[in-house]
Amino acid sequence: QKEIISLAEITGFQTPSEEFNPYEWYKNKLRNEPVSYNEATDTWNVFRYEDVRRVLSDYDYFSSVRPRTTISVGADNEEGQRMSKVDLSLDPPEHQKNRALLAKAFTPRSLKLWEPRIHEVVRQLLDGIGDALEIDVVQDFTNALPAIVIADLLGVPSGDRLLFKEWVDHLFLPIPKERAEDVQELKRQAAKQYYNYLYPIIVGKRSAPAEDIISDLIRAEVDGERLSDDEIVRTTMFILGAGVETTSHLLACTFYSFLYDDDRIYGEVRADRELLPNTVEEMLRYRFHIAKMDRTVKQDNDLLGVDLKKGDVVVAWMSAANMDEAMFEDPFTLNIRRPNNKKHLTFGNGPHFCLGAPLARLEANIGIGLFMDRYSRIEPVPGFRLEDHLTPSAAGQTLTSLPMRVTAS
Ligand code: HEM
Repeated sequence: QKEIISLAEITGFQTPSEEFNPYEWYKNKLRNEPVSYNEATDTWNVFRYEDVRRVLSDYDYFSSVRPRTTISVGADNEEGQRMSKVDLSLDPPEHQKNRALLAKAFTPRSLKLWEPRIHEVVRQLLDGIGDALEIDVVQDFTNALPAIVIADLLGVPSGDRLLFKEWVDHLFLPIPKERAEDVQELKRQAAKQYYNYLYPIIVGKRSAPAEDIISDLIRAEVDGERLSDDEIVRTTMFILGAGVETTSHLLACTFYSFLYDDDRIYGEVRADRELLPNTVEEMLRYRFHIAKMDRTVKQDNDLLGVDLKKGDVVVAWMSAANMDEAMFEDPFTLNIRRPNNKKHLTFGNGPHFCLGAPLARLEANIGIGLFMDRYSRIEPVPGFRLEDHLTPSAAGQTLTSLPMRVTAS
């Protein structure tokens, strides 16, 4: 079990809302402490675009093999652990083969096949909302969409999706300071139930493959290596950990932004859908603040302008780098027409660049697009207090609910 580094000890945010809107903190770091040592956690922290990019991608100096990390996900029992071929926390060249095995399930061809299925999942979710005048877009829509899409793409029978979503929710709960053992136990139970549920499904698909991620993983072969049934269960758990909460967060933040950052965007994009892909990118750049990633120094260097020693931990703050004026003009302004916003580092950079980025983009574009077809207007509810709608996740504050008034098209 790796040692988990507490990000809260680095940021020292006073309130959940400050953490949800960390612009001032980033501004200060970018200007005054772009490369700084944090004593409480014994970590180096980098904020500027070029430094963050380098730490993420220069694996000769900054390694993904690390005994200490900021990422705390999954469960700590046998069922919840990752095994050799499923482990992507490696550097090239070892990283390459494992990633290639997984990548067999994320090809452009797969994406084309997935598109109509994502449409269908989104339509069902929207139908489920019915004709209410006030909805909770997080509980009714953004929290469910990525988990249900993944369940569908994995090939999980549709009747079991809610069960599936509940395991996913429990598996990736953050460990609180108090009652940590209770949450660990909940995670272990979820890992065990998930494992026992999925294993026979994989065995079944070996003899009757279909068009889904599990079947792709069964077929995947790289340099004569294949994944066992056990490794496939663990791989799907890893995919869930990487792809569900992140995509839900993106969707929830986008609706928050439509309501509270700039209330003209929803109508503008609704009227001109060509603006949608770039709007999603701008949300990833401007509104997605849980992106940070750590690496461990592999050999002594001064590439960041300070003396780094082998074994030092460096945290790369991607969400802050997305606000660096050296890369983005007027970075603290939300601009859905920004020409270069796809350069954001929210999906990482280099050999570990997010394998699911095309899927996340597709889900966001289809999810928001179909939502816009259904509702001509969205408005805040009076008396909304952000503070009452936030909860800590492993990487930062996320929305638990977001009530809004809707007008059907
Ligand atoms: C890796 C972000 C959605 C699967 C990454 C990394 C980032 C990231 C920053 C790089 C980690 C590193 O450098 O160590 C995001 C964000 C998402 C998202 C912001 C949504 C908004 C997804 C989805 C999937 C996915 C939907 C799959 C269903 C993966 C995998 C990796 C990864 C497998 C590991 C790649 C490797 O280490 O080679 N993601 N991700 N992600 N992501 Fe995503």
